[in-house]
Amino acid sequence: MRVAMIGAGYVGLVSGACFADFGHEVCCVDKDPGKIEALNRGEIPIFEPGLDDLVAKNVREDRLTFTTDLSQAVRNAEAVFIAVGTPSRRGDGHADLSYVYQAARDIAAAMDGYTVVVTKSTVPVGTGDEVERIIRETRPDADFAVVSNPEFLREGAAIADFKRPDRIVVGTEDERAEGVMNELYRPLYLNQSPLLTMSRRTAELTKYAANAFLATKITFINEIADLCEQVGANVQDVARGIGLDNRIGAKFLHAGPGYGGSCFPKDTLALIKTAQDYEAPIRIVETVAAVNSQRKRAMGRKVIAACGGSVRGKTVAVLGLTFKPNTDDMRDAPSIDVITALQDAGAQVKAYDPEGMEAARSVLTDVAYARDPYDCARGADALVLVTEWDTFRALDLSRLKATLAAPVVVDLRNVYRPEEMRRHGFTYVSVGRS
Ligand SMILES: NC(=O)c1ccc[n+]([C@@H]2O[C@H](COP(=O)([O-])OP(=O)(O)OC[C@H]3O[C@@H](n4cnc5c(N)ncnc54)[C@H](O)[C@@H]3O)[C@@H](O)[C@H]2O)c1
Repeated sequence: MRVAMIGAGYVGLVSGACFADFGHEVCCVDKDPGKIEALNRGEIPIFEPGLDDLVAKNVREDRLTFTTDLSQAVRNAEAVFIAVGTPSRRGDGHADLSYVYQAARDIAAAMDGYTVVVTKSTVPVGTGDEVERIIRETRPDADFAVVSNPEFLREGAAIADFKRPDRIVVGTEDERAEGVMNELYRPLYLNQSPLLTMSRRTAELTKYAANAFLATKITFINEIADLCEQVGANVQDVARGIGLDNRIGAKFLHAGPGYGGSCFPKDTLALIKTAQDYEAPIRIVETVAAVNSQRKRAMGRKVIAACGGSVRGKTVAVLGLTFKPNTDDMRDAPSIDVITALQDAGAQVKAYDPEGMEAARSVLTDVAYARDPYDCARGADALVLVTEWDTFRALDLSRLKATLAAPVVVDLRNVYRPEEMRRHGFTYVSVGRS
């Protein structure tokens, strides 16, 4: 099938490359000429494991192209995916749908013949209705259907998630559109990934419900971790003790500095706003969002406490800046709140991240960037592990201790074992473990 993918970011580029790899003919469109020029030079503008090879292969085999010219891409396409950003709107936390609506207008002007317009961006309930209205208003003669197909991939494992999803959600009541969606995803459901067809509004809500539930799970274990610290219990044992219960499940029960990233913070806020607008407030998610946003800065205070109550004039080394490992994405990363809290308290911050330092430069100020973990630790009065990249999991502890000015380690991801750290002579603080 011929596919146009509008927006070549984390979701659009991965989805476009994977659809091409299934054998479809995909044209990825982005309004950012720098991104498209880079892609056309064979460079990948984001860090996502395996994406460079997948893109190169499908470009070489003539199934994947890149352009800034939306109308050219849309004109020939049977399916047009909207995969543009839906960030939080400044001021009120609603999803900012201006990019989606602009894309809808541009698509309407360009489409030719029966076209399925698929919203892959995470959008509030009712957005599909509005996209349909916009297209109809722009092109009263057009033959089209608007489908919701939310994306559940995780950055850092995006290709595997797209190719082996737990499920594919398709929101449409239009039979012809359903046929097109089935055809697009055929390689996956032949592979036994369930394809769930439901109403468009239900599909839109399903995406928010999934993210809000996962955010709730993380926040739950984080609060249990705080209690563990007070009562002398171990949150990892609690997490295992409850996670092995199939009704609960072991995933998303890792206590840490609070969730961040490009999805959970904005999607929980948007769900809260939608629910309030419909007078069906979801109080549990309201609490989750409030607890999580306070937690990130509280982690800065945890570091200050580990340093004896003050970091003024001290240097703190931070390992890991991105919101999780295996991405370069800094959006809403907990490191931002931790570092800002430390700087506000008078600390100098040095940082190292395997992939995120370039993106970090535009969101953090007055941070000195290091070449590697030991360079980061050199002369520092404390080291904080914020993001659990694999390269931080097996540090040479003797070398680390000799490199630091003071042997204080705050491990916000519980990567190391407290006994081992104490044996090496560290003052070691982690999350939910005494
Ligand atoms: N990042 C994730 O892990 C993830 C996972 C699931 C769902 N989502 C959702 O997918 C959507 C996209 O997220 P993302 O992380 O890929 O965002 P992103 O910011 O990485 O990419 C969006 C791209 O769209 C482009 N764009 C915006 N308006 C355009 C237009 N009118 N025409 C052409 N290009 C346009 C931007 O230049 C940008 O490159 C969001 O709604 C997000 O919530 C993201």
